[in-house]
Amino acid sequence: MQYQIENLLPLIEEAISEFKIPVYPESLYMPVNYFMGLPGKRIRPVFVLQALELFKKPEKKDANAAIATELFHNFSLVHDDIMDKADLRRGFETVHKKWNEPTALLTGDALMIFAYQALVFAPEKELKSLLMRFNEMSLAVCEGQQMDMDFSNLPSVPVEDYLKMIDLKTGALIAFSFEMAGFLAEKNESIRKSLREFGASMGRCFQLRDDYLDLFGQESVTGKKLGGDIGNSKLTYPVLCSMAHQKGSEFLSIWNQNPESGQARIDQCLKWMHKNEIPKICIELIDKEIKNGLTLLAGLEGNEETKIRIESLCRQLAYRDK
Ligand code: IPE
Ligand code: IPE
Ligand code: MG
Ligand code: MG
Ligand code: MG
Repeated sequence: MQYQIENLLPLIEEAISEFKIPVYPESLYMPVNYFMGLPGKRIRPVFVLQALELFKKPEKKDANAAIATELFHNFSLVHDDIMDKADLRRGFETVHKKWNEPTALLTGDALMIFAYQALVFAPEKELKSLLMRFNEMSLAVCEGQQMDMDFSNLPSVPVEDYLKMIDLKTGALIAFSFEMAGFLAEKNESIRKSLREFGASMGRCFQLRDDYLDLFGQESVTGKKLGGDIGNSKLTYPVLCSMAHQKGSEFLSIWNQNPESGQARIDQCLKWMHKNEIPKICIELIDKEIKNGLTLLAGLEGNEETKIRIESLCRQLAYRDK
């Protein structure tokens, strides 16, 4: 998969390797270094620097600040994997599986604190507003994650509630990543708001595709367990579409089996979804959201050449395989 980001990724990897995560005590920092070393896409700091190119050429200090988004993201994943009882992440064992849950809690905590340390590389005069926005974003992620957990105990939710939940748990950080470019370029609130709104739309596409890949992707490519969301009874868009389908009662009889029936329930749900063209319906919503996002992109300040690069990056992510 090509994102046309060849020039940005090395800058980000350099910033991550120069960000000195301590070594001792090993029981605390080994899992932190382990997780940061797993092959993630690093897409959030890429968003920051790619959006920054709307205004100026990204410099080293911009990358040093931008990795706050990656550190925060990694924190949220380590805790998310505990919450989702996930054993596999980026093709490797999750922290709580390789070590244990108390270790994974602290790994996440440390990563979140490191995110704040990276933020201080942002321009000094922006720090107060940046910090306020970062904290709003962090709480939004918590709110979304809690809604995600609450929903898995409900029989169903309206699609609008699901969209609100993914906008919080995933959209908020991606919106912040685009907005952060506005802070790094010392742009005003109106420009930052437009970046944030565009980012929110991309964040929605991003999670819609994540939910799609959880059920219709390939485990060897995503590096996450196929059908894990069904195992956890997550009310993702494919599930809501299946329930709303004209043969929805047929789906419900499979879905409502005891989750203890494990893999058999997952396999039956997936088979039913494929047979009833649920993947296609999910892609239609991504197509719709991408259109909305591209309208917002067109309205942004900044150079047109970069907008073309952002458009291409976002399209590739919305239809990504991992
Ligand atoms: C996974 O994010 C979690 C979501 C918010 C969808 P990514 O798909 O960006 O995960 P990595 O960082 O590349 O592993
Ligand atoms: C994760 O959503 C969102 C956050 C970590 C905040 P998911 O639970 O769907 O992410 P994956 O699929 O485990 O990466
Ligand atoms: Mg989750
Ligand atoms: Mg998860
Ligand atoms: Mg997922």
